[in-house]
Amino acid sequence: MALNLHGKAEKHVTLLGALILVTISIGGIVEIVPLHTIESTIEPVDGVRPYTPLELAGRNIYIREGCYNCHSQMIRPFRDEVERYGHYSLAAESMYDHPFQWGSKRTGPDLARVGGKYSNEWHVAHMVDPRSVVPESIMPAYPFMLDRQIETEGFGDHLRALSIVGVPYTDEMIDAAEADMAAQADPNADTRDLLARYPRAAVGDLDGNPDELTEMDAMIAYLQILGRMVDFADYTTEELLQ
Ligand code: HEC
Repeated sequence: MALNLHGKAEKHVTLLGALILVTISIGGIVEIVPLHTIESTIEPVDGVRPYTPLELAGRNIYIREGCYNCHSQMIRPFRDEVERYGHYSLAAESMYDHPFQWGSKRTGPDLARVGGKYSNEWHVAHMVDPRSVVPESIMPAYPFMLDRQIETEGFGDHLRALSIVGVPYTDEMIDAAEADMAAQADPNADTRDLLARYPRAAVGDLDGNPDELTEMDAMIAYLQILGRMVDFADYTTEELLQ
C-alpha cells in the first residue's frame, strides 16, 4: 500500500512537485516563524545606550569625511584581532547605529574600541597632523575641524528621527538635545544630568578650545565613547558566548 503511494508520486510530476513544495515549506516555516515571535534577534547587553547629541554630531562627521573607507569598527572573534583590539564586537554594541559603521577596509586600524586608548590632546594633534604623532602615518589631516563651529539648533529633530527607527531616545533627551550638546564640551558646565542620561560620555574641554563648540569637539566625543559603553569586567566569557 505504502509502496503504491510512492509509485504514484513518482509517476505524476505535478503531485511530486506539490509534495516537494510542502516538504521544503516546512523547513522554511520552522526557520521564519520564530523570528516573528521574538522582539529582537540581538541579545541585550548592559551599558549599550544611544549616542549623546555631540557624539552623534561626531558620528555624522565621521560619515561625511568617509573615515569608514580606511577604518572598520568590527572586531572579529579571532585571536589575532582580540589580542590587538580587545574583546570582539557584540551585535548589541552597534544596535543603535543607523547606518552601522562596521566597514570593510582597514587601511588604518579598527576603531571599535579606540575610546579611552588615547588622551583628547593626542586626538587633536593626530587629527590636525597625523604625522606629528605617528611619523609613518598615511592618514589625511583634518585641521579644519578645529575651526568649524557645530550648529546645535534643531538637533533634537535628529534624535527624534532616530527614535522613529527604534533608538530609545526619550522626550527628555530630545528636549535637552541642544543644551546637552553644548554642555558636553564645556568645562564649566554642570554635566550631572547629561551623564545620568548618557553614562560614560567624555565630558570637558575636548578640543583644547573651551570657548567654541567645534567639529573637533564632536569628533573626539565620538571617538572616546567607541567601545566604552559595555564594561566587560561585568561579564564572564561564558555569559557572552551564550
Ligand atoms: C586614507 C586612509 C584613512 C582615512 C580616510 C582616515 N584614516 Fe585614520 N588612520 C589611518 C591610518 C593608516 C592610521 C594608522 C596611523 C596613524 O595612527 O595615523 C590611522 C589611525 C587612526 C586613529 C588611531 C587608531 C589607533 O588605534 O591608533 C584614529 C583615532 C583615526 N585614524 C581616526 C580617523 C578618523 C576620525 C578619520 C576620519 C575623519 C580617519 N581616521 C580617516 C588611515 C586613515
